[in-house]
Amino acid sequence: MMGSNQPHVVGFCGSLRNKSYNRSLLLHAASQLPENYRFTLADISGLPLYNEDLERDLPQSVRDLAELAKSADAFLISTPEYNFSIPGVLKNALDWLSRKNVDTPLALKPVAVMGATQGMFGTSQAQVHLRELLYALNMSLVRRPLVLVGQVQEKINADGQVTDEMTKQFIGQLIDNLVKEMEQNK
Ligand SMILES: Cc1cc2nc3c(=O)[nH]c(=O)nc-3n(C[C@H](O)[C@H](O)[C@H](O)COP(=O)(O)O)c2cc1C
Repeated sequence: MMGSNQPHVVGFCGSLRNKSYNRSLLLHAASQLPENYRFTLADISGLPLYNEDLERDLPQSVRDLAELAKSADAFLISTPEYNFSIPGVLKNALDWLSRKNVDTPLALKPVAVMGATQGMFGTSQAQVHLRELLYALNMSLVRRPLVLVGQVQEKINADGQVTDEMTKQFIGQLIDNLVKEMEQNK
């Protein structure tokens, strides 16, 4: 259900790095959303490592993230690949949000994924893992296009602007498909 007439997309970045290419991709993708859409980049840097014992008295950072996720109509993820998988920080955030005690705010909502690496393969292996994980979370995955941005250092400039036309086209298609999925999910 879309919460209001201003649909809200929440972004997760798998990298905490200050100059993260993946964060630049997310911000570019957000700029392609329709004008009446709202985008918020989630801060997952302060979450404790998941521990069931902490559920007895949920940390404020987890409560805040869960509230943000509840307010979302859809999600957009951009992540690097770490050792052929997704970074632990992203898995940790998704694990916290998968729990019933925060009302499983991800389930059934649309999600689109992208990824960038400086190597050739643009997160192809990490995205296989991420797509499986989103299936476990019962999210509604936007399956295409695959946005696998290899050699990203040649496609995003020092100011964080995406300069590569092909990358912009793929992201544009992904956002179009996410918006369609959100319309259908209303
Ligand atoms: C711990 C670690 C493991 C990595 N493993 C891979 C990998 O398996 N495949 C790959 O293409 N790049 C790998 N990289 C390189 C990252 O994809 C690259 O640093 C990327 O720019 C990080 O994304 P960011 O710019 O958003 O921080 C790894 C980097 C780190 C720090």
